Amino acid sequence: MGAARYIWIDDSLRPASEGVVPFVSAAVQYGFSVFEGIRCYSTDQGPAVFRMDEHVERLFDSAHIVGFRDLPVTAEQVTTAINQTIAANEFSSCYIRPMIYLDGAMSLTVEAGQPHFVVAAWEWKAFLGAEAKERGIRANISSFTRLHPNIMMTKAKVSGNYVSSILAKTESHRAGFDEAIMLGPDGYVAECTGENLFVVRNQVIYTSPRAGILEGITRDSLIALARDLGYAVVEEPISRDQLYIADEVFVSGTAAEVVALREIDFRVIGDGKTGPITRALQHEFDKVVRGRHARSAGWLAPVPALNTAAAVRS
Ligand SMILES: Cc1ncc(COP(=O)(O)O)c(C=O)c1O
Repeated sequence: MGAARYIWIDDSLRPASEGVVPFVSAAVQYGFSVFEGIRCYSTDQGPAVFRMDEHVERLFDSAHIVGFRDLPVTAEQVTTAINQTIAANEFSSCYIRPMIYLDGAMSLTVEAGQPHFVVAAWEWKAFLGAEAKERGIRANISSFTRLHPNIMMTKAKVSGNYVSSILAKTESHRAGFDEAIMLGPDGYVAECTGENLFVVRNQVIYTSPRAGILEGITRDSLIALARDLGYAVVEEPISRDQLYIADEVFVSGTAAEVVALREIDFRVIGDGKTGPITRALQHEFDKVVRGRHARSAGWLAPVPALNTAAAVRS
């Protein structure tokens, strides 16, 4: 992981060492912060952020869902801050973490403190391991149920939601798997700990309905790419045993990108390797993010250059 030299705090770039939050803040005490996970890719035209506008919009949706009212930033300022953080760190490709967090923790209300805005970035390669994309990974159905949409807000990327993901993924890792599949409170497949899930059967692609999941931006991109390739994509409930008899199962996320599940609950899926439709979508996705696809122009936002010396406040 490449460390950053600069971090964005509130309204300016600062040395990374200043990127700390007070221990007494709702963010630390209660997990009350909302964030995004975004990737910047190295393209022939220089670094470019994948689906910037959609990520910025989801950050604001998350803040709105949890009840933040007066935010210290506009969408335009968030976009500028993301670009400047990448440029100042001179990353050609990286992972970007914008976050809005609450500083006070004196009462259990949003009014207990002030919202702050930060952007961290770091160099990050394959999230599920270098081999995962090639060979696929092994997953199990978690003993932990995914969030009930009336208990935690599944449409918001709220830090506290990820306790559920950590419980599930830690359990899976300790049991020898790579990833956890989480069923929703209705008993149907919801999503993984940080990825959405797709099933392929008889050349049709299925994915879980939106109500109980985080609406992944990679998920949305893959649905579009699959339809471009002529595949039908159906959003409908998926049962546990539908996974077992699928021809292919794959997961999608900003961090994971597109990765096959070659085994679930000790049952081999399809041929036990990355299947042809998963492979085709990996290929399309790679072309898009390298700037070599018809959709690249619409989905990649080039990072403008920056005069770091002038931008960093000391
Ligand atoms: C719970 C969960 N589901 C799905 C996803 C995939 O979303 P995206 O493709 O926007 O990264 C993520 C990652 O952000 C996630 O945390």
